[in-house]
Amino acid sequence: MGSPRSLLLLTFPFLLLSVSSTFSFPTPELFTQCLEANSQNPIPFSTTFFTPNHNASFTSVLESTAQNLRYLLPSMPKPAFIFTPLEDSHVQAAVICAKKLKIHFRVRSGGHDYEGLSFVSLIEQPFMIIDLAKLRAIQVDIAHNTAWVEAGATLGEVYYRISEKSPIHAFPAGVCPSVGVGGHITGGGYGSLHRKYGLAADNVIDARIVDANGKILDRAAMGEDLFWAIRGGGGGSFGIILSWKIKLVQVPPIVTIFTVNKTLEQNANKILYKWQQVAPNIDEDLYIRVQMRVVNSSTPGKRTVQTSYISRFFGRADRLLQLMEKKFPELGLTKKDCLETSWIKSVPYIYGFPNTTSPEILIQRTLSGKMYMKAKTDYVRQVIPETALNSIWRRFMQDDEAVMTWVPYGGMMSKISESTLPYPHRKGVLFESQYVATWFDGEKSMQKHMNWVRRLYDFMTPYAPRFPREGYVNYRDLDLGMNHFNSTSFLRSSTWGFEYFKDNFIRLVKVKSEVDPSNLFRHEQSIPPLPLESFKD
Ligand SMILES: Cc1cc2nc3c(=O)[nH]c(=O)nc-3n(C[C@H](O)[C@H](O)[C@H](O)COP(=O)(O)OP(=O)(O)OC[C@H]3O[C@@H](n4cnc5c(N)ncnc54)[C@H](O)[C@@H]3O)c2cc1C
Ligand SMILES: *[C@@H]1O[C@H](CO)[C@@H](O)[C@H](O)[C@H]1NC(C)=O
Ligand SMILES: *[C@@H]1O[C@H](CO)[C@@H](O)[C@H](O)[C@H]1NC(C)=O
Ligand SMILES: *[C@@H]1O[C@H](CO)[C@@H](O)[C@H](O)[C@H]1NC(C)=O
Ligand SMILES: *[C@@H]1O[C@H](CO)[C@@H](O)[C@H](O)[C@H]1NC(C)=O
Ligand SMILES: *[C@@H]1O[C@H](CO)[C@@H](O)[C@H](O)[C@H]1NC(C)=O
Repeated sequence: MGSPRSLLLLTFPFLLLSVSSTFSFPTPELFTQCLEANSQNPIPFSTTFFTPNHNASFTSVLESTAQNLRYLLPSMPKPAFIFTPLEDSHVQAAVICAKKLKIHFRVRSGGHDYEGLSFVSLIEQPFMIIDLAKLRAIQVDIAHNTAWVEAGATLGEVYYRISEKSPIHAFPAGVCPSVGVGGHITGGGYGSLHRKYGLAADNVIDARIVDANGKILDRAAMGEDLFWAIRGGGGGSFGIILSWKIKLVQVPPIVTIFTVNKTLEQNANKILYKWQQVAPNIDEDLYIRVQMRVVNSSTPGKRTVQTSYISRFFGRADRLLQLMEKKFPELGLTKKDCLETSWIKSVPYIYGFPNTTSPEILIQRTLSGKMYMKAKTDYVRQVIPETALNSIWRRFMQDDEAVMTWVPYGGMMSKISESTLPYPHRKGVLFESQYVATWFDGEKSMQKHMNWVRRLYDFMTPYAPRFPREGYVNYRDLDLGMNHFNSTSFLRSSTWGFEYFKDNFIRLVKVKSEVDPSNLFRHEQSIPPLPLESFKD
């Protein structure tokens, strides 16, 4: 892959992109008139169109699924209007009219973007939002092991609707039930089943999207290059996903769940050192995530780190205990830590709810608490030595509200090649490490928490791969660089582009250049188009 990359880099500095920001923004009326003229079916604007001046509900619609409160601060740019399509033809009309009237738009499904890019534009104002929250039908077909799910559905809704039809069918995707299917799957999507079944994107068999011309394309119509790109290349670059056809996977009727907590005083370091060697290599039926947070120690006035091993096993407790005794006795799992339950009841638990939580919580779309948040991510490929863990804790304990999560890889993730889909973090990854700071007092303590995450990330540099240091497009991090849509934007994109996608970034740029050369679908970290001549050998 050496030659296309150098070619691409060579080409960067000579590019100029013409996205003019000097037009006058059309009035809402012009946009709705255009929608009416271009929609197959009538559009009831009273329930689908919101402007700040005319509609009291504008703010509640804007805030509805906006997960990271940092992007709702008063200092953040707000949309000029929001359109919430009720059917596919409305989405087509929105794309056609936004293009015609030169209205910059953002697309929102579940609103969980870490940097708020589905509802805030930092680089182009004014802008509007096309919000797919009302396009959320789910059709499960157990006989064929498939389902069609619309972009605005949440993961929790998908899991719940599948379980209504069958207790032994599931879909491998994220652990957070309120995440939207639209943004999630198009960025990859891992959860508690990726070691056994791969990513959500690995289990997609068809999709329907609206392209830059307002046309609806399915897999056959879009072709294999674009179908490849939308399964991991990240949201907001290639078109608007209307729905996915997903492949269902098998789960056993009874699973076992457990959580074991260990503080530093309880030998957390030794156990975590062992976990790094065990969790990525153990039986694919066993998933053990580690969540770390700062807590008060049993010694008054002192603080410590608590490591929580949150786990799920595809089988009964007896077999799990035998496996743990053999492979990971250091954790000291006992029968009374284990709870046998159904797959669907394990889903809220794996996210962090108590073991008594009923699965109905999965269809409450607003279940995860909103907060101010900043996160950064690494993929770790080498075991972090025990001694290094001690110094990590010293950095870690500088923030009270912080969480670090380590998610084991291996299993099926190692069996799929790096270029099969745009998501490249496969063979050789031991675990994904995420650093998250959360807070509740808005701008007041923001800088302190943001600094903490950045410092910890810097501190972790020696334990992360280099050239590139790997990151995850679904855990978007604007510190890695941003498009500005002027002559420097392509050069800038090469940092995050190679971190998120490794060499797949080149193929993504090529697909983008073919399907959206005028860069209609764009944001701070969208895939940039290049003139197609750049790809000639
Ligand atoms: C609390 C929390 C927990 C999470 N847990 C996990 C996890 O376990 N595993 C995991 O892999 N990820 C996880 N994520 C990350 C999540 O997968 C991404 O943030 C994902 O992009 C969210 O999708 P969304 O539809 O909710 O987001 P949105 O904010 O609506 O969209 C995200 C991006 O995709 C674009 N987009 C949205 N809809 C479409 C569409 N229909 N067509 C094209 N582009 C679109 C947006 O413009 C934006 O750029 C988590 C995030 C949060 C906040
Ligand atoms: C918003 O205001 C416009 C203009 O008054 C009106 O046409 C539309 O029906 C309102 N929409 C809602 C959802 O109230
Ligand atoms: C482990 O710690 C978490 C967070 O501090 C707590 O909510 C949970 O109840 C604990 N679980 C067990 C089994 O001790
Ligand atoms: C931890 O201890 C501090 C005082 O040292 C106290 O203010 C705080 O409430 C304690 N937190 C918890 C969760 O017990
Ligand atoms: C399940 O939750 C209950 C109530 O919080 C708790 O008492 C019990 O120990 C838990 N069981 C297991 C196996 O975690
Ligand atoms: C590109 O845009 C960014 C952000 O607006 C600005 O800082 C930078 O100077 C611009 N570069 C050029 C060459 O115009």
